[in-house]
Order: sequence, then C-alpha cells, then structure tokens
Amino acid sequence: MEKILIVEDNRSMREMLCSIISEKGYAVQSTEDAKTALLLLQKEYFSVIISDLQLPDMDGFTFFKKIKSNNIPFIILTAFGSIEGAVEAMKEGAFDFIAKPVDPEYLLLIIEKALKSTRILRENIIFKQFYSSTISESNIIGKSPSLLREAEKLKQVAITDTPVLLLGESGTGKELFARAIHNLSERKNKPFIAINSASIPENLLENEFFGHEKGSYTDAYVRQIGKLELTQGGTFFLDEIGDLPFNLQGKILRVIEDKKVSRIGSNQELDLDVRFVFATNKNIQQEVSTGRFRKDLYYRINVFPLDLPPLREREEDILLLANYFIKKISIELKKKVLPLSKKAEEKLQAYDWPGNVRELQNTIERAMIIADCKEIIDRDIILPEKSFQLTEEFNFHGDLKQVTSRAIHIIEKMKIERILNQVDFNKTRAAEILKISYKTLLDKIKDYDINPQS
Ligand SMILES: Nc1ncnc2c1ncn2[C@@H]1O[C@H](COP(=O)(O)OP(=O)(O)OP(=O)(O)O)[C@@H](O)[C@H]1O
Ligand SMILES: [Mg+2]
Repeated sequence: MEKILIVEDNRSMREMLCSIISEKGYAVQSTEDAKTALLLLQKEYFSVIISDLQLPDMDGFTFFKKIKSNNIPFIILTAFGSIEGAVEAMKEGAFDFIAKPVDPEYLLLIIEKALKSTRILRENIIFKQFYSSTISESNIIGKSPSLLREAEKLKQVAITDTPVLLLGESGTGKELFARAIHNLSERKNKPFIAINSASIPENLLENEFFGHEKGSYTDAYVRQIGKLELTQGGTFFLDEIGDLPFNLQGKILRVIEDKKVSRIGSNQELDLDVRFVFATNKNIQQEVSTGRFRKDLYYRINVFPLDLPPLREREEDILLLANYFIKKISIELKKKVLPLSKKAEEKLQAYDWPGNVRELQNTIERAMIIADCKEIIDRDIILPEKSFQLTEEFNFHGDLKQVTSRAIHIIEKMKIERILNQVDFNKTRAAEILKISYKTLLDKIKDYDINPQS
C-alpha cells in the first residue's frame, strides 16, 4: 500500500487531511514538525509528502531542500494568498502546491498525479540499472585501475543527460568513450553525430553546426540542415573543442544554454534535445588563462570530466589490447590468430607508446601483415628508432630496478652497435674491445636485435 507523510502543525488541519487520505485507502502517517519528519524519512519509505510551509521548527522550504534528493514528490500546503514560498519551492522541484482551505477532491487528484510520477521514476531507476550493467557492450578493453575508474564513471554518467568532457592524449580512446556514452544511454537508438573542430575549415564550421536557409548567402543554393539539428534526440560529439574558433565558442555556448538552434539566414528557433559530449587533448584551462578559450564555455562543458590515462601509465593493458587487436585484425585481414612470442611481448611492454592505443593498434596491424604463419616475433614489431637521450621521453615507469635495467639495456645496445660499426662487424675484435667473451657478444647481438644495417 502507498504510504503518505503529512507534516502539519495545526492539529485540526492535520486530522482532517489524515481522514480524507486514509478514507481513500492510502496509509497515512503524520507529524507536527520537520525534525520528526526527517527521522521518519530515515526509517521508512513514503510515496508522497504533504507539508505545510510554516512549521514550528523550520520553514517548509528549508525542509524540502533537505529531503529533495530522496526524489519523493513533495506537495506544499499554503495559506490563502501567500503563494510566493510555494512558487519558490516549485522552482526547486517541489511537485505541486495546494492552497488552504483544502478542497478534498483536489487534494486527492494531486496525490494521484504524484503517485503516478513516483511509479514512472521507479521504473526509470530499474531501467537505468539494467543499462548500467552492460558496460561490456562498449568495446572498452582494459584492466588497469586508472582506466577502470574512468569506465565506472562513464557508466554512471552515460544514463544521464549531463555533458561530458573527455580529456586525454591523442589515441587514448576519447572517441571510443564518446560512442560508449551514447550506446549506454537511452538515446542509443537516436543519432550519434561527431564534429571535429580541428579538421573543418573555420569558414565552413558554422554551416556544419547550424546549416542554412536557401539564399542566406551567395553560395547557398539549397537549404541545408545543420549537424546539431540532425542530432535531434541523440548525442552530439564535439571533438577537439579546444580548437573551436573564438567566435563559434559563443554561438555553441548559447546552444548549450538555451537548447535552441536556428539555421543561418533564418530567425526561426528550433527546440533542440541533444546530449553533448566534448573532447580535447589540449590543456583547456591554459587556453582559458591565455584568453583563447571562453571561460563561460569552459564552465559549461567541464561539468563531468573523464581523464583517459596514457597507455604508458597502464602497462597491464598493453598485452591485453595487443591480443584484442590481433583477434580483431585477423578477422579483417582474414588471417589466422597468431600468438605473440615472448620477446615480442617484452618489446611491446618496454615501449612507451606516445601515440597510445592507436599506435599500438597500427603496430599490431603491421606486424600481422609481415609475420609468417606461426607467431608474431619481436622483429615483426616495428617501432620508431629513437636516439637515446635521458629526457622526459625515457620511460621512467616501474620501480628503480626496472628503470635501471631498462637504461642499461639501451646503453649496452648503443655501445655494442657503435663498436661493431667501428670494426665493420668483426665480432672477435668487438668482443676484445668490449672486454666480454665472444659467446656473450653473440647473445647480446641476438637479444638486442643488432644487425649490420642498424
Ligand atoms: N581501451 C580501449 N579498448 C579498445 N580499443 C581502444 C581503447 N582505447 C582506444 N582504442 C582504439 O584505439 C583507437 C584510437 O582511439 P580513439 O580514436 O578513441 O582515440 P582519441 O583519444 O579520440 O584520439 P585523438 O585525440 O587522436 O582523436 C581507436 O581505434 C579505438 O577504438
Ligand atoms: Mg579522437
């Protein structure tokens, strides 16, 4: 049975309300002040709350703000002629108000309406819980805590309409996350439309967003619908927002705030129902401080940031992703799924992946093409040769022993290559100069993959 809570200090009023409501078949509980009501709300579940605006210990508005997060429909009783407080509470999300003297019929009608909205809300919560359990549908691969943390946040925000700002280096999966947000939301059967501010010339960008009416400028021969309008009901992904030209920043801000668009050359405004997702690999706060990015727009888009960690900071994901791409690419290339040799695995793990997941994916694709039919060996993994400098580029990840051994390997390899080149690859001579045995030199040449050309 639905239970209704009444908070009213006037005793005769309270008793009258209780009798009207219980006669209709609802369970009723009543208190005369807000403090007792708050205690009751902690222990029991109510479907509707009806409260006076003037309570002995707290005004009804403050009481409402305290319990608002419970999402229980809140109906206000106001004395005749003093509805300002009620209006204020309605603005904050109260369900409705009833002026005294109370008309029983009207009271019951409002209660019915409130109960209906509670039922819809409950169904929504169940629906949302169902959706939030299907992150596996999102194709996001990874087990590192830093990625999982962001994926968890993604799951929570996807079901809402909150704008999301995706931050992270190039190739860390911002677009993948944007699509996952869409696919896990209730908008998933509506359009997902992406615009990359950096890849469209500035003079065409506004037209991309808003479209135009026929004849609105010299080249506008036909009407064109903008991408925002095309997204209606769906998710609009504004990629590289850090590169959005300054004059368009203001226009986009207005769309986000007013939820309205109009085509260029038209003064008709259309209501726009889209969810925004933004991405950038720029330090947007710095762009704000140098005046290149509007502060007000920054506050609008930075409501729920997700920070995608670079691949070098999640070593446990490298092989997981590599094997995932092998499987995926084998289907595309119609090749057998090949295992990675031990050394190939080590090579992948030792590299610091400045191009992140995208670079790993490309490296695996290249390796799959050149590998013979048994396995992928370290030689198939082609990485850009880098001259060794002890700068930020050196992979400092891991504990001291791991970092030192990585440095030693790099230096040993360089030294051996240098000497071998000096003596025209005469290994006996090189071993003498290096003061190591011939056998050790051969092992190291093999380990470090040194050959005469390098
Ligand atoms: N965690 C992941 N699991 C599976 N695939 C991934 C993951 N992260 C990235 N990828 C893949 O790597 C490629 C690059 O990712 P994406 O395009 O989303 O990066 P981005 O952050 O948008 O990069 P950019 O800033 O350069 O646009 C895509 O093919 C994407 O599917
Ligand atoms: Mg991208």
